[in-house]
Amino acid sequence: MQTALITGASSGIGAAFAHELAARQSNLILVARSEAKLQQLATALQTEFGIEARVVVQDLTQPTAATEVFEIVQQQGWVVDLLVNNAGMGDYGMFSQRSLKQQS
Ligand SMILES: NC(=O)c1ccc[n+]([C@@H]2O[C@H](COP(=O)([O-])OP(=O)(O)OC[C@H]3O[C@@H](n4cnc5c(N)ncnc54)[C@H](OP(=O)(O)O)[C@@H]3O)[C@@H](O)[C@H]2O)c1
Repeated sequence: MQTALITGASSGIGAAFAHELAARQSNLILVARSEAKLQQLATALQTEFGIEARVVVQDLTQPTAATEVFEIVQQQGWVVDLLVNNAGMGDYGMFSQRSLKQQS
């Protein structure tokens, strides 16, 4: 059985990926900031599809966040077969007029 790690899994597109992958018998590692929403989703998907769903609470805007997720996954001995790197941010306007700090 494969394991998928989904960022931004607590709502929207990330939660939809979680449902679809669980329905295909994939175990899940769900990452976002809202622990209660992640736990609720994990419990619901485990019950409905008989898969294992783990939760990692992380604010991915923090510089060390990716490393911390990686270390948690390693420490727990989880093996990730598929990454759905869904959490992100958007910005609008002329590229030359946007904040360099926000772009980087
Ligand atoms: N919906 C669209 O039409 C559309 C179009 C183009 C691109 N996109 C992109 O697709 C992605 C998902 O869109 P969506 O519509 O599903 O958005 P959404 O419903 O707002 O969901 C965003 C997800 O990302 C998580 N998240 C937000 N900030 C985070 C942070 N700092 N650290 C960790 N997790 C964070 C949220 O959970 P928490 O709040 O619990 O952290 C939530 O699970 C985004 O990158 C968006 O820019 C969406």
